Amino acid sequence: MRKKIVAGNWKMNNNLNQTKELIEVLKAEINEVKLNNTRVIVAPSFVNLQEAIEGTKNTSIEIAAQNLHQAKNGAYTGEVSSEMLASIGVDIVILGHSERRTYFNETDEALSEKVATAIENGFDVIFCFGEQLEDREANNHFKVVESQLKNALFNLPSEAYSKIILAYEPVWAIGTGKTASADQAQEMHKFIRGLFVDAYGNDLANELSILYGGSVKPSNANEIFSKPDVDGGLIGGASLNAKDFSEIVKAI
Ligand code: PGA
Repeated sequence: MRKKIVAGNWKMNNNLNQTKELIEVLKAEINEVKLNNTRVIVAPSFVNLQEAIEGTKNTSIEIAAQNLHQAKNGAYTGEVSSEMLASIGVDIVILGHSERRTYFNETDEALSEKVATAIENGFDVIFCFGEQLEDREANNHFKVVESQLKNALFNLPSEAYSKIILAYEPVWAIGTGKTASADQAQEMHKFIRGLFVDAYGNDLANELSILYGGSVKPSNANEIFSKPDVDGGLIGGASLNAKDFSEIVKAI
């Protein structure tokens, strides 16, 4: 049975003390929740990952990085390698977030390399993708999503998919307060699963967790998560508040 997943992307928020505090409150909140076949993941900034790893030892909260560099090591000033992350106990990474694509020019090609590096080094990858508003308005959203997935993921062997978590995030819904409706999310998630049925077969596609991201909050999580092809959420803004985030976890 495919896993349900709620992941919090903290983005460039929370200094060291705020990280410690949020982790402590989260532990107490999440402890109360019965996690049935559900993974709870949070992604603090690079500098606070080690603290987060220490703070969540022996809990059901997992820690992810928000990015990694595709090269093993070398002259890439300001970048962080998979080996560095692994050395402090991080084994999950978010790749392809729309903010990385938009502000840091991450292309499908670079993402394909990043995914390959992450998989080779034993990471789970939360792979983000999704259309811009103009794509949806021009009715190109299915095409855009299909090409993002094909370009970055379809060269992977089937075995790699036990490590891949998909996160469909329509860019127009990220941080805007505008959520895709539950029906829009289901329509796209079903389409995505269908692409994997065609490329890799039914069994693999049925095991893939497909998360929805974009202004998920306690008030809309239930409805979005009730859809059959929505296996959880990637949460930005609401993951910075332990109560809101745990409410969302409870909704799964
Ligand atoms: P949001 O962000 O929940 O603040 O819209 C989602 C994301 O960027 O992953």
